[in-house]
Amino acid sequence: MDEVTFKSDTVLSDVHLYTPNQRHLMVRLNSMGQPAQEEEDVLEDNAQESSTHNIIKIEHTMATPLEDVGKQVWRGALFLADYILFQRDLFQGRTVLELGAGTGFTSIIAATVAQTVYCTDVGADLLATCQRNIALNSHLTASGGSGVKVRELDWLKEDLCTDPEVPFSWSEEDVFDLYGHTTILLAAEVFYDDDLTDALFKTLFRLTHKLKNACTAILSVEKRLNFTLSHLDITCEAYDHFRACLQQLEQLRDGQLRFAVEPVEASFPQRLEYERIRQLELWKIFVEPGT
Ligand SMILES: C[S@@+](CC[C@H](N)C(=O)[O-])C[C@H]1O[C@@H](n2cnc3c(N)ncnc32)[C@H](O)[C@@H]1O
Repeated sequence: MDEVTFKSDTVLSDVHLYTPNQRHLMVRLNSMGQPAQEEEDVLEDNAQESSTHNIIKIEHTMATPLEDVGKQVWRGALFLADYILFQRDLFQGRTVLELGAGTGFTSIIAATVAQTVYCTDVGADLLATCQRNIALNSHLTASGGSGVKVRELDWLKEDLCTDPEVPFSWSEEDVFDLYGHTTILLAAEVFYDDDLTDALFKTLFRLTHKLKNACTAILSVEKRLNFTLSHLDITCEAYDHFRACLQQLEQLRDGQLRFAVEPVEASFPQRLEYERIRQLELWKIFVEPGT
């Protein structure tokens, strides 16, 4: 396993799989960058050592400026991860592409069943955090971590970066595998800025036209309500824009692909610890050859 180093201001969260409410969630790190442990924690740790295989460790930040939102773990990532755990058969042995993966949490959950997961986002710093999180959890993933590939995929760029000098760029082999085998696309909580939402939908459109097989995109979104001065009312503009993009996609008729959109009932079991508020939604887009 790769060597993992922490910064002193890093916060490490344990997200429990299958065993909610068993233990505290957050582990603060000491000035040496190691998890600060109380004596009773050590005793508790010893008692629970046998259950550590159910714990996912994620290096993340608690609060960030907007440009660094990917360093936080968002509720929609946990919600989507719960759906993956519920639908394990759907992911078994598949090639999966996650867009805007942030800390890599959802990709790690997908990799507990999928054969290959392309965990993508932008920025070498964020992608390096992703890589560390994957190394931290390699014991959980189906192929010991080797099946999760952290790559840069910027929705604002037409092409995948294949320059070997650039960190997290794509090899020719990756690109061939991505287009040849991907059947599931994931994106959690990436609909908070209309321009980025447009870019994400364009990326989805572009990628699905390059994939060899029919695929399903599964998207999570939290409907955030805000009071806006311009409307003098509570609105959810980013969510409304997301819904409009879904509708546009469904109405597209380009003769090559057909996009069918369906909401997912949020009644699937909750195995991870987070507040499952009713504003959390999951949407599926079925992409098939057009007739
Ligand atoms: C709110 S965060 C969600 C992160 C993660 N999916 C989660 O739910 O915890 C939005 C993510 O979109 C990514 N993002 C923003 N602009 C992007 C772009 N142009 N291309 C790819 N990813 C982008 C951010 O870096 C960030 O990781």
